[in-house]
Amino acid sequence: MEELNGKVAVVTGGASGIGLAMARAFAAEGMKLVLADIEADVLDKASSELPEGTEVETVLCDVSDPEQVDALRDAAVDRFGAVHVVCNNAGVSTGGPVWAHSASDWEWVLGVNLYGVVNGVRSFTPLLIEQGEGHIVNTASMAGLSSPPFMGVYNVSKHAVVALSETLFGDLALFGAQGVGVSVLCPGWVRTRIHEASRNRPDAVEAPEAGEAASAFAEIAGSLINSGLDPDDVGKLVVDAVLSRRFYVLTHPEWMSMITGRVDCIVNGTDPVIAGLPDPSAEPSEG
Ligand SMILES: NC(=O)c1ccc[n+]([C@@H]2O[C@H](COP(=O)([O-])OP(=O)(O)OC[C@H]3O[C@@H](n4cnc5c(N)ncnc54)[C@H](O)[C@@H]3O)[C@@H](O)[C@H]2O)c1
Repeated sequence: MEELNGKVAVVTGGASGIGLAMARAFAAEGMKLVLADIEADVLDKASSELPEGTEVETVLCDVSDPEQVDALRDAAVDRFGAVHVVCNNAGVSTGGPVWAHSASDWEWVLGVNLYGVVNGVRSFTPLLIEQGEGHIVNTASMAGLSSPPFMGVYNVSKHAVVALSETLFGDLALFGAQGVGVSVLCPGWVRTRIHEASRNRPDAVEAPEAGEAASAFAEIAGSLINSGLDPDDVGKLVVDAVLSRRFYVLTHPEWMSMITGRVDCIVNGTDPVIAGLPDPSAEPSEG
């Protein structure tokens, strides 16, 4: 899209972190906003703190429920008459060895992180195609391009979002829907509340028995998130991606070797390098 001023953006998970930062970045471009989330109080507070004059609608929406996402689309169209940018961003995390998660934990995380994006793509893409103009931004992660330990459920959800986004890009091109762009956002550590995602874990969803090593990893990940990138920097990258039709949006250029290293292992037929552990093929350091 060449111009965002006066256009309409829908952001899921818009009450916090990266979603709220995207909302601020879109507001700075003069866009009208629809922010969706499941945390009612936080959502109201977030929308009231947007720059004065921003036209904003808030919608309580659990993205894992297809009917609620259809209702979000309808609410956006009712309020503003159109939707131009759709950010399928809401997400949660869980941690532990891949075998230690209950079926309900898998369902919860895949329900939000994967089906949330599936539902957004299913509800909004036909509208954007019909308009002949629009852009879809799906939030994946560097965990969608690599497979860090103790994050199996999250990794699976994010790899699937990358696959879905790449396929959507191809399908739109083959369908001749040139006016509709797609981006997949793959952040590294960003200073948000993602490591506190258990605040949104439904009561019926059993938390995993993480074990000592996984708990230590979670603690390190939490402190890396707390000292991570400013979410507003991510918001600005997303605005640039929409304006320039950039597909892959990566926030940490210094992490590229995680991707190339993985591809090298696939091509060379060697074992995967485990992110966070020493590479067994590396020269031993002196001392
Ligand atoms: N922070 C990071 O380091 C990082 C890195 C890579 C990817 N991501 C991804 O960024 C996205 C945004 O997360 P964040 O880091 O801003 O975390 P956050 O916890 O600050 O924000 C996530 C938002 O999603 C909302 N949410 C949770 N479940 C929902 C549901 N069922 N329906 C609707 N909304 C729901 C939460 O209430 C919250 O407002 C997620 O998809 C996350 O996986 C984050």
